[in-house]
Amino acid sequence: MATALLSLLLLVANVAASHVTGPPRCATPPDEGSTVHILHAFGPCSPLRPADPFASWEDTLMDLLSRDVSRLIYLTSLAASAGRSFVPLAPGRQLLQIPNYVVRAKVGSPPQSMLVALDNSNDAAWFPCSGCVGCPSASPSFAAARSSSYRTLPCGSPQCGQVPNPTCPAGAKFCAFNLTYGGSSIQAGLVQDSLALASDVVPYYTFGCLQKVSGNSVPPQGLLGLGRGPLSFSSQTKNLYDSTFSYCLPSFKSLNFTGTLRLGPVGQPKRIKTTPLLSNPRRSSLYYVNMIGIRVGRRVADIPPSALAFDPATGAGTIIDSGTMFTRLVTPAYSAVRDEFRRRVKSAGPVTSLGGFDTCYSGTVTAPSITFMFMGMNVTLPPDNVMIHSSAGSITCLAMAAAPDNMNSMLNVVANMQQQNHRVFFDVPNARIGFARESCTA
Ligand SMILES: *[C@@H]1O[C@H](CO)[C@@H](O)[C@H](O)[C@H]1NC(C)=O
Ligand SMILES: *[C@@H]1O[C@H](CO)[C@@H](O)[C@H](O)[C@H]1NC(C)=O
Ligand SMILES: *[C@@H]1O[C@H](CO)[C@@H](O)[C@H](O)[C@H]1NC(C)=O
Repeated sequence: MATALLSLLLLVANVAASHVTGPPRCATPPDEGSTVHILHAFGPCSPLRPADPFASWEDTLMDLLSRDVSRLIYLTSLAASAGRSFVPLAPGRQLLQIPNYVVRAKVGSPPQSMLVALDNSNDAAWFPCSGCVGCPSASPSFAAARSSSYRTLPCGSPQCGQVPNPTCPAGAKFCAFNLTYGGSSIQAGLVQDSLALASDVVPYYTFGCLQKVSGNSVPPQGLLGLGRGPLSFSSQTKNLYDSTFSYCLPSFKSLNFTGTLRLGPVGQPKRIKTTPLLSNPRRSSLYYVNMIGIRVGRRVADIPPSALAFDPATGAGTIIDSGTMFTRLVTPAYSAVRDEFRRRVKSAGPVTSLGGFDTCYSGTVTAPSITFMFMGMNVTLPPDNVMIHSSAGSITCLAMAAAPDNMNSMLNVVANMQQQNHRVFFDVPNARIGFARESCTA
């Protein structure tokens, strides 16, 4: 169905073609000061770009949604109380549970450049290291032997106590740890080296040096966790950046566009709407906020308060996640929003469904606005953050979904499509998260 191709898909194809004919493959603007460019994971410069573009818009949507489902399973397992576990769904076509954005990081001295996935719901950073078994072989890996500032951490170090599942068998000198990320199991040594994003160098940054990986959910050049736990980037760079950052995520409409990650309190928006950041001591990496309602047009959807309530004991509540593409709501919340949306939409055609989206229309659609109502802050989404269109304009869907039936998730996830073209400000010292409209087209 060539006419129904999503612009995303066309861009992937264009970009692939442009590689052959010369224009600079990755003409990204240089990172400066404390501002780092954020690239699309599927964009021309990204190592995560799919090798073979999808055949149709429907395939692309199915793939993006299935990635989201596997991420939701992962987030739910992070949010749920310990001991609860989920069986990953059978992977479909090359199911990668990867975040959607990458940034350039420089590791070691002299610096080795890596394009690492950005994940604000994770703490750890890890990079594939030379000799890693099972790491994606086509990608560069970090050569520790070529860095003069590299060092391993001993088993008794405080950092070794902060990683999940440290492995320090009797007689072991160096700390290692095991981790599951999406559908992959990872074995890594705990090490330190210099890390720089933009121009600030962080000495002795603690990260995992991947030694062995099974499964295909691992971002090829590593991951940088921007969560809130002790080993996250924000915690380890507290003296430099005061656990403060903001990002502007570029729209999926143009994979060429880059957004920015701005580190530290300097240059952050002064006048910005904010909502309190909630702490869940059991799941310290996640950025929980209090979403109290969702307005569709002028009417607040009839959502039972329990569907939105924050509960540290069960992990229920709402998080702001950079790695999920389409907002997922627990079923009672989603149903209420969807029903209100369907009542207010203006379209000549009937409601259809497509690849996991249940509220789609053919032809011209006038959609009501959607406002996320957080404690103290309403965020009204621009139409591009609410509806996803096929490039031919023939089908338009509400770009949100309920958690899959079989998952029993209690987590509402405000995902990156809904955050696109906003500056989202994470101000941990003042326990707040801010939203302001901005075009992320650096
Ligand atoms: C970590 O993984 C290794 C290799 O798969 C395994 O031998 C070891 O038992 C694991 N350790 C823990 C604590 O899970
Ligand atoms: C994206 O970048 C490529 C190569 O730099 C260029 O040829 C193409 O026109 C750009 N596309 C858009 C939509 O800007
Ligand atoms: C958000 O919108 C609701 C409903 O329209 C309104 O009652 C409330 O005062 C608004 N909150 C803020 C912080 O503006």
